[in-house]
Amino acid sequence: MMNTLPKSILGRTGLWVTKLGYGAMELRGTDHFPRLNAKAASAILNSVLDNGINYIDTSPDYGYSEQIIGEQIAHRRAEFHLASKCGCPIEEPDVPHDQRKPHDFSRANVRAGVLQSLRRMKTDYLDVVQFHVSPERAELETNDSVAELLKLKEEGKVRFIGMSGTMPQLEDHIAMNVFDVFQIPYSVVEREHEDLIHKAAQGGAGIVIRGGVSRGVMVKDAAVIDEYPAFLRPAFRARRQLWQQTNIDDLLEGMTPMEFMLRFTISNPDMSTTIVGTANPAHLLANVKVAAKGPLPKDIYAEACKRFPKMAAEQYLQQLP
Ligand SMILES: NC(=O)c1ccc[n+]([C@@H]2O[C@H](COP(=O)([O-])OP(=O)(O)OC[C@H]3O[C@@H](n4cnc5c(N)ncnc54)[C@H](OP(=O)(O)O)[C@@H]3O)[C@@H](O)[C@H]2O)c1
Repeated sequence: MMNTLPKSILGRTGLWVTKLGYGAMELRGTDHFPRLNAKAASAILNSVLDNGINYIDTSPDYGYSEQIIGEQIAHRRAEFHLASKCGCPIEEPDVPHDQRKPHDFSRANVRAGVLQSLRRMKTDYLDVVQFHVSPERAELETNDSVAELLKLKEEGKVRFIGMSGTMPQLEDHIAMNVFDVFQIPYSVVEREHEDLIHKAAQGGAGIVIRGGVSRGVMVKDAAVIDEYPAFLRPAFRARRQLWQQTNIDDLLEGMTPMEFMLRFTISNPDMSTTIVGTANPAHLLANVKVAAKGPLPKDIYAEACKRFPKMAAEQYLQQLP
């Protein structure tokens, strides 16, 4: 087994995590994600662990993902930190994304969801549970949702609590000062949360980055964007356009665009891990190889920060003359 991936501490959790984590959403087998057979599911998840990745993120919302983790790697549970989400509807895994019931942050549903995650993944504890879909602070307070996660923590079913947060709610989430971990979208073409990532890290939280390779939309055929739900497409198109129109050829120095992008994300000093998703074993191996190289050289990172805007790609493109 090789284990050359750089690690960092996930903020105040003290967990030692590989800077390349694994996002298990691609295992969902619903919507536009193909259903993997047991052999393919076993191959990808065992390869994640064989390559030394020690942080896996999933959610009850990701179709069959939690079940597949339970079926394929529950026997290797001691080798990885496991994060899931809560507040998600309790439903069968095959309900399509657009037909799912709304999220419910009542204490009863938060508890039911965590217990379901434990059953599905055949484990006694989750290392991290994050509120999904960035609920407003008022909604969490009305439901007293955090208290339920803290109770689950006391019971040993959950080790640390987190928030999958985005603007505009994220600032309030940070101010609540209760979360050990934040999961936040970020990449070279999606830098709009960068200052809040810094603020959350300064407050002592561990930072889990999602979208760290911008779903591959800058290297894949543009048509791949049409497979995603309609509400996501404009931002994906804008990020692709921003990527294409920003000249970085002189910064690549032999790197592929994917290497540049993944190492840019890993260069963010506030980031603990980036949970890159893939169902493709070759992509997984390529990502491991790249992540093992660590951050971009300092001068290239600094120059990339000058060339790519901190504001949302859509907003940035609209204000160009
Ligand atoms: N909290 C939330 O609301 C939320 C929302 C979305 C995602 N997430 C979590 O974050 C994880 C990752 O997020 P994400 O899916 O948004 O973004 P991502 O990790 O930036 O992108 C994943 C996509 O990139 C492609 N990819 C990965 N490596 C590649 C490579 N070497 N070459 C070409 N394509 C490559 C994958 O396609 P292939 O399968 O073809 O490799 C996959 O479709 C998810 O799995 C999930 O755990 C959380």
